[in-house]
Amino acid sequence: MSDFPGLGDVAGKRVLVRSDLNVPLDGSNITDDGRIRASVPTIRALAEAGARVVVTAHLGRPKGAPEAKYSLAPVAGRLGELLGAPVAFATDTVGESATTTVAGLADGQVALLENVRFNAGETSKDEAERLAFAQQLAALADAFVSDGFGVVHRKQASVYDVATLLPHAMGGLVSTEVEVLERLTESPVRPYAVVLGGSKVSDKLGVIDNLLGKADSLLIGGGMVFTFLAAQGHEVGKSLLEADQLETCRGYLARAEELGVKIVLPTDVVVDTTFPSGDVEPHPQVVAADAIPADSLGLDIGPESGKAFAAVLAEAHTVFWNGPMGVFEVAAFAEGTRAVAQALTGVDGLSVVGGGDSAAAVRALGFADSDFGHISTGGGASLEYLEGKTLPGLQILED
Ligand code: 3PG
Ligand code: MG
Repeated sequence: MSDFPGLGDVAGKRVLVRSDLNVPLDGSNITDDGRIRASVPTIRALAEAGARVVVTAHLGRPKGAPEAKYSLAPVAGRLGELLGAPVAFATDTVGESATTTVAGLADGQVALLENVRFNAGETSKDEAERLAFAQQLAALADAFVSDGFGVVHRKQASVYDVATLLPHAMGGLVSTEVEVLERLTESPVRPYAVVLGGSKVSDKLGVIDNLLGKADSLLIGGGMVFTFLAAQGHEVGKSLLEADQLETCRGYLARAEELGVKIVLPTDVVVDTTFPSGDVEPHPQVVAADAIPADSLGLDIGPESGKAFAAVLAEAHTVFWNGPMGVFEVAAFAEGTRAVAQALTGVDGLSVVGGGDSAAAVRALGFADSDFGHISTGGGASLEYLEGKTLPGLQILED
C-alpha cells in the first residue's frame, strides 16, 4: 500500500525529492507553471504513501548565495495549490529553517527547501565541496528520489552526489521522460523530423552532429538560422550571427548532403528595422531569406517557410522540436512558432516538444499539453540525451 517503486515502504520516512521547479517568473508571478504541474504526481505519490516529503529545487542561476529574486517562495505557494495541501517552506536549504521545517513534518506532509543554488556547494566543480554540501542535504532525509528531469545533465550535489549517500529511486517524471527519449533514439518510426530553433547554434552543435546520422530531415529556425543562412553566402543584415560557427555550419550542410539528410532552412523571414526599441511598435516586414536588407534584424521565419516546415512535418511519423522559431513573446514575431506548433498537433505518430522555452511558447500561444505526444520538462537535458551523452543524474541512479 505505502510502497514507492524502488524504495519499498516509505511510510514515516523522510524522503528528499529533487524536482525541477525552475519556472519563468515575472516578479513573483509564475508565468508558466508547467514544471510544477509535472512535478506533482511524484510528490503526491510519496505523500500518499505516508512519506515526509522534502522537496529540493533551484530557480535561475544565483551565484551560490541568497538573492531575493531567485527565491522559491512563490513556487511553494503554487505547489501547495496544485497538491491541494499546504507546503511548508524553509527559508534556507540546509540551515536552521530547513532542519526545523523537516522536523515539523508529519507523515504525508510536504516541505519545500529554499533555492538549492543559494549554496555554493551545489554547483561547485570541487568534488569535495560538492560532496560536503550533499552530506548536509542527505542529513535531512532517509531516502532520495530523483525527479528533476531538467537537471539530470548537471553533475550537482542535489542531483548527483546525494544519490551516492542515500537509498535512491528514479521518480515517475524522469522515467517517463527517459522512455520517450528512448523512442526517439532507438528506433524512431520514419520519417523522423527534427525542428531546431532558439538563439544560438553553439548550444546545438552536439545535437545537430548526432542527429545528422539519425533524422531524415532537420528544420532550422530561430536566431540560429542566420548563421546557417550566412554559411550559404547570404547577407543577414543585423540579425544574430555567430561568425565563429560559420565553418561548422558549412560542414553540417555538406555532411547532410552526403548523408541524404534534408536540412530545411527558411526561404523567407520576418524582419524589423526598429526592434527592440522600447515603446516603438514593431514594424514587421517579410523579406526573402537570401535578401535580408543591411538595416534589418531577422525575428521570425516567414509565412512561406512556416507552410514549408508544416508540409515536412505532415509527412513525418516522429518529430522532436526544441527552440522557438522567432521572438514568440511579441505577437508580430510569433507566427513561425505557431505554425510549427500547429503542425506538431497534427503529427500521425510521436510528437515531442522539448525544453522549457518551447513548452512555455506553445502554452503561451494557447495550445494545450494534450495537443502533443509529450512535452519534455528538460531543454538541455533532452538535447544532451539526444546527443548520446551520459547524463550524470541518470547514470548515478543505475549504480
Ligand atoms: C532548465 O531550466 O533548463 C533547467 O532547470 C536547468 O537549469 P540550468 O540550465 O540553470 O542548470
Ligand atoms: Mg545507485
